[in-house]
Amino acid sequence: MKGIIYLIFFSISWATFAQDFTLPELRFKYDAYEQGIDAKTMEIHHSKHHRGYVRKLNKAVSESKLQGKSLEDLLMYASDRTSAVRNNSGGHYNHTLFWEILTPTTDKSAPGVPSKSLQNAISKNFGSMDVLRKQLSVAAAKRFGSGWAWLVVTPNKELVVSSSPNQDNPIMDVSDVRGLPILGIDVWEHAYYLRYQNKRGDYLSAIWSLLDWGVVSEKYAAALNSPLLTKIEKENWPEKNTFHKVLAQIFHSAENGDLKPLRNMSGALYAQAILLQDSDVPKPILKPEVSLSLVRLEKKCGVLNRLVGKNAREKSLMKAVVAVHDIFHEVQGLCHD
Ligand SMILES: [Fe+2]
Repeated sequence: MKGIIYLIFFSISWATFAQDFTLPELRFKYDAYEQGIDAKTMEIHHSKHHRGYVRKLNKAVSESKLQGKSLEDLLMYASDRTSAVRNNSGGHYNHTLFWEILTPTTDKSAPGVPSKSLQNAISKNFGSMDVLRKQLSVAAAKRFGSGWAWLVVTPNKELVVSSSPNQDNPIMDVSDVRGLPILGIDVWEHAYYLRYQNKRGDYLSAIWSLLDWGVVSEKYAAALNSPLLTKIEKENWPEKNTFHKVLAQIFHSAENGDLKPLRNMSGALYAQAILLQDSDVPKPILKPEVSLSLVRLEKKCGVLNRLVGKNAREKSLMKAVVAVHDIFHEVQGLCHD
């Protein structure tokens, strides 16, 4: 009996420990960033706002029964998460990145030097560091309300500037620009209001002098070989995601004995299958098996649509929709190899 109690206690403690996200320490003291950001803002931002995101994230993860998922996994499939998980996983990830790339410097004109490799990428993608700075400033200044400006490594290993609302970021499947952020600028008012009030532009100039290009360079090098970037590339296939959404509506209802969505949407499913077959398959999964499965998927969706048109019996419709579902899962499986 005692053993069972210990086991239960240990399991609960381990599960709690394993799932909890924690507030990271800052690299420097709150007053070390004074030249750009005052100590009070740093303290409130880190110890109140970021701590709040971490606390709410742990609560939201627990309520959504997503314990054990990595932070990246929570972000990747943000469209399937509750708004509490989406906002707070983004809040935790984004602020952690923000603290990492800030460093106090006594020389405002020399905010560190990017690595040769990052310098080359900046020259190739923007022309110069000045153009990059301008694009980041515009992205940050134009972000309406609260949000972030980003320097992102895209799946095809290019650098782009983007911005996102609230606590969204480019890892999320809801983001227009997908990739790994290597530099993020917080443009929520809580990041600057005490010293700069409504002068977001002055805050952006101050942030520029605090950027640690050594850390950004390390993040750039890591992003180029990151499995997460490859995963984003594989998942960044809008036609497949749309097909999946339509199929899910049809299939789950059919499984529960309701064939109405199937009868109503077989044409839409067939149309999506044609679009999927014509779409650009993401590079990491561009292989003959995928193309063959997509051809079979389109044919089977055509058969299903014709059966619906002929008002076929329930048994035939179920057989056909299960076949469509199986072929789609073959494609999904090939994506995850
Ligand atoms: Fe913030």
